[in-house]
Amino acid sequence: MTVYEAVGGEKTFTRLVDTFYAEVEKDPILRPLYPDDLGPPRRHLTLFLIQYFGGPRTYLAERGHPRLRARHMAFPIDQKVRDAWVRCMRAAVESLDLPAAARDEFMRYFEEAATFLINR
Ligand code: HEM
Repeated sequence: MTVYEAVGGEKTFTRLVDTFYAEVEKDPILRPLYPDDLGPPRRHLTLFLIQYFGGPRTYLAERGHPRLRARHMAFPIDQKVRDAWVRCMRAAVESLDLPAAARDEFMRYFEEAATFLINR
């Protein structure tokens, strides 16, 4: 079974990303980095995470290869920005009430991926 299936499929990722962007909207460090309309960012991140955790590969079809480091170069990500992003994502992950193993796996991935994207 994939992680995607184990955590409940598409609806879990939709809830995760909706909660994440609700946190971003309240965050004075992160909000200015995103476009006014958070609809497209919401869709991009949802499809990316679904694909990354073993679900349908719609992200690849719509957006091509993720190339996340290159795509984030335009956004100034220092330690403080990285920590703000992780804080928003932790709040979203914790809101899901996942089994501890799945929650820890999500957080380990998000913390490492966010560190990898530091570019300033
Ligand atoms: C470290 C702090 C981060 C900041 C400040 C940040 C910021 C942004 C911004 C401003 C965008 C453009 C909005 C959009 O078009 O979606 C974006 C896109 C994206 N981010 Fe991040 N991000 C961060 C970390 C991450 C991490 C850790 C992941 C993956 C786990 C991620 C995945 C994505 C994806 C998939 C996109 C859409 C790429 C595309 O298809 O164009 N981001 N990010």
